[in-house]
Amino acid sequence: MFAKFILFAVLAQLACAQQPSFDVLVEFGTNFSTLAFDTQEEINELYVFNGDMIREFNRELLLELGRMVPAMREADADLQQQIEAADGVDDECREYVQELRELFLLFQNWDIQDCAYYAHVELEADSINRFLPYAITFQSENTRSISQVVQTLARRNAYADFDGVVEELDGEWEYYQTLAVSFSDFLFDEILAHAPVADRVYLRLSECRETALDLQLSDQEYILSYLDDNCL
Ligand SMILES: *[C@@H]1O[C@H](CO)[C@@H](O)[C@H](O)[C@H]1NC(C)=O
Repeated sequence: MFAKFILFAVLAQLACAQQPSFDVLVEFGTNFSTLAFDTQEEINELYVFNGDMIREFNRELLLELGRMVPAMREADADLQQQIEAADGVDDECREYVQELRELFLLFQNWDIQDCAYYAHVELEADSINRFLPYAITFQSENTRSISQVVQTLARRNAYADFDGVVEELDGEWEYYQTLAVSFSDFLFDEILAHAPVADRVYLRLSECRETALDLQLSDQEYILSYLDDNCL
């Protein structure tokens, strides 16, 4: 009888003790998943911003290349006309000079491709290595927080050391809150850091374009020099 009474008292105590404990665990669980959800929303916005930034830089790059191609085409059309209109040149020479023109056109095309290639490689490396690897790490850490209560319960003895459980969850809660703020700032800076790379790429691209146009000009002078003495 006495033993039964004790057993009952212990069970009652456990039941009473368990109610608030369970509540606080549920509260932690709710807080962790709310934070994870909000943080995920923020990461998603950063992904969109990052993508917009990269798209914009590529668009500007294309515009820059787009200015290069017509300029070189126009110069070539001029050259073609000059060859056709040259005086005192026989057909054989004219044909030879046109062939020479076509050959140099090939080199000029390679110059354009080189400019585009280097710009592309540099921008692509930047768009892959910046932001994305960190965003993925952040995301997986953030996802881990959803199951933090279960993780902690699996690791600690909730019966013998419930305070320890709450203490650990408090610590984790601090950690994830700090993580959310500092990682968002960090990712934002990663996105902003695309800009100096893009600036450098454009500067190089416009130098490359200038050089290609200069080369084309000197090629053309060389080609035209054949017309001066009828290819002799
Ligand atoms: C859960 O979040 C609320 C609101 O931010 C806070 O007041 C409460 O202390 C948090 N609970 C736990 C167990 O950390």
